[in-house]
Parts: sequence; structure tokens; C-alpha cells
Amino acid sequence: MNELTEEINNELQVKSKKRVADHGEVFTNEREVNSMLDLVKQETERIESRFLEPACGNGNFLAEVLKRKLKVVDNRYAKSQLEWERYVVLAVSSIYGVDILEDNANECRDRLFQIFDVSYTKHFKSECNEDCRRSVRFLFSRNILWGDALDFTNPVTKQPIVFSEWAAVNGSMLKRRDYVFKFLVEQTHQFSLFNDEGTAAAIDEPIKDFPLVHFLKLGEND
Ligand SMILES: C[S@@+](CC[C@H](N)C(=O)[O-])C[C@H]1O[C@@H](n2cnc3c(N)ncnc32)[C@H](O)[C@@H]1O
Repeated sequence: MNELTEEINNELQVKSKKRVADHGEVFTNEREVNSMLDLVKQETERIESRFLEPACGNGNFLAEVLKRKLKVVDNRYAKSQLEWERYVVLAVSSIYGVDILEDNANECRDRLFQIFDVSYTKHFKSECNEDCRRSVRFLFSRNILWGDALDFTNPVTKQPIVFSEWAAVNGSMLKRRDYVFKFLVEQTHQFSLFNDEGTAAAIDEPIKDFPLVHFLKLGEND
């Protein structure tokens, strides 16, 4: 999908009357998204600030958050490909979404990846590294989930929604810890997935702790 087609598709606010009736699916238009994000402008421009949208639809808010973070990375790190990649991976790792409709979660993931990829390709052309693309794709596959944000499970399998926390260690390494979404929401403030130190405050222990992995090696074994 080219950028123009993407913009046209994303301008549609209603997909069908049935979806509006069943799921309240009316997408927010770009002007409103930007006005709302401007209320927390500083956070939207902080590369590692964490955003979770619990009914993300096809990603209108998350797409804009990603674009704002990319702009900051472009301004600061465009001269070094490795630094650009490192900070973009960090930006991507901090963006989370859930939607009850599987097609929305898929669309959101694909849309966010496209935004990253258009920018990556524009900057580094034939020098783009497939490992970086794989890492970013993997992060979106872990962070944008199909689930019911009210009962914290997948609507079909009824398995609990599990989010991954990503924390940068020694510059190029990432630490992944998985947490059950229900605990994150019920025992901490709704909009603060993890505390400022990057740890999940006052919630249950992670259900899984992973070895450190280089930021360009994410998803290598999946
Ligand atoms: C009003 S739309 C907003 C979508 C997007 N946030 C936006 O502003 O464009 C509501 C979204 O919530 C989703 N939704 C409805 N109930 C949900 C639930 N229990 N858990 C997660 N998502 C839900 C719908 O599928 C729909 O995509």
C-alpha cells in the first residue's frame, strides 16, 4: 500500500454499521488524534515513553505516536544508521495496543510496520538491514495484540493477554519480561504499564524472564 492509499483508507471512520453496533467501532480522525496527543506532547516526543491503547482499532493514535517519535529519532540520529536503528527499535518497543477485533489488531500492526519501513527505506535505501526489519516486525507482533481489554483475555482462546516489557541494557541489548495484562492494569495506574525505572511496580512477578538479546536479533528464533 502506498502512502496516499494508506492515508485514504485511514480516513474512513466507520467500516460498517454492524461493527459500530457490535463494538462501538468509530475511528478517531487525524485532527482529533493530534489535538489529544498534544495534551501530552512531551511524552509523545520522548523516544522511550510507553503508550498503551486498550482499544486501538487500526492504530490511529499509535500511528501518530510512532510518527512523532520517528521525527525525533530522525532529527537526532539520521547520520548514523546503527544509532537510528537502535533508537527506532526502542521507540517501537514502547508502543502497545489491544483490540477485540482480530482484523483491527492485524491492520494496526501492519500499518505501524509500514510507517517504520517507509521511513527506514527513505533514509537508508539499499543499506537497510533485514535484521532490523525483522526486529521491528517481531516487536509489533508482541506489542499489538488481539484481545478483550475488559476481561484481559483473547476473545476466542480465552487465554490471558500477556505483554512484554522491553528494557534497554548496555546500549545494544534488550531485556524482555512478560507480564499478564490483567495484573498490570488492576494493580497499577491504567496508563502506566511500567514505572519510570522500567520495572513493573507493585504487580506480580513476570510470568517469563528472557535472556538479553541484541536489538537486531529480536525474533531470530521465532
Ligand atoms: C471507537 S473505536 C476507536 C478505535 C481507535 N482507538 C481510534 O480512536 O481510532 C473502538 C475500538 O475498540 C474496540 N473494542 C471494543 N470493545 C473492546 C474491548 N472490550 N477490548 C478491546 N477493544 C475493544 C473496537 O473493535 C474498536 O476498534
